[in-house]
Amino acid sequence: MRGGFVAADEEARELLDAAAGDPAQLEALVLRRETGEPLAWITGSVAFCGLQIVVHPDVYVPRWHTELVAERAAARLPEGGVAIDLCTGCGALAATLRARRPGARVVGTDLDPNAVANARANGVEAYAGDLFAPVPGDLGLADVVAAVVPYVPRRALPLLQRDTFRFETALAYDGGEEGLDILLRVLEEAPARLRPGARWCSRSVAHRPATWTPTSRDCRTRTRSRSPTRTATCAAWSSHLSRSECGRRAVGGPAH
Ligand SMILES: C[S@@+](CC[C@H](N)C(=O)[O-])C[C@H]1O[C@@H](n2cnc3c(N)ncnc32)[C@H](O)[C@@H]1O
Repeated sequence: MRGGFVAADEEARELLDAAAGDPAQLEALVLRRETGEPLAWITGSVAFCGLQIVVHPDVYVPRWHTELVAERAAARLPEGGVAIDLCTGCGALAATLRARRPGARVVGTDLDPNAVANARANGVEAYAGDLFAPVPGDLGLADVVAAVVPYVPRRALPLLQRDTFRFETALAYDGGEEGLDILLRVLEEAPARLRPGARWCSRSVAHRPATWTPTSRDCRTRTRSRSPTRTATCAAWSSHLSRSECGRRAVGGPAH
């Protein structure tokens, strides 16, 4: 670590590129970064799944962990299929799905209009609103629902790193008391939006004490909302969800 930055050399290279040989500009960019402003806001973009994704100021910067979810969701999205990326932010995950499956229709939603504008700048068909609410009526059932929801327990928000704490909006992080409020809503609402046999992917990293280690698990979730045979598989990265919470949450009925 140098100057308090974990990847100082990589960041320096990005700032040099952004300054394009102008020393005064470089100085200005470095000073901004030293305040803790996220690098992607300064350079205007971030690399994600081999794409260069535009990131507007005030919009959550996609994390590399989410590349795993994006690739997993892409693998499950058929050409010509339909995907919904909830809480799309700058649209990195949705843009990856579009790039991997150009024939698919991919829709992103976000409560923050700034994020929606940013996702559109990345070519994503994005709508403002709460979770599934703004999804266009003509979309039909989805093959894939992906969601990187706000995931931090409210009491842990002040413990976030400097960049986050000073610059980013709590809307991107605040997952309610246990960090799971929005994820659980997605779990409840997603099955009715999925084609029978479809899958959904989510990254949920609930912040826990220092011993926390991420695990990947595949769980099956079943709903009796319309058809007793409709099932969906979820991939959740979480130490916080037990198998019963994650995989066996029945919609409108007791756990199976
Ligand atoms: C952790 S960020 C993830 C952004 C993006 N998926 C990514 O990985 O870069 C969570 C996003 O959820 C949005 N959000 C928060 N509550 C929401 C809700 N109820 N419905 C839709 N979006 C919401 C925030 O504005 C933010 O853009």
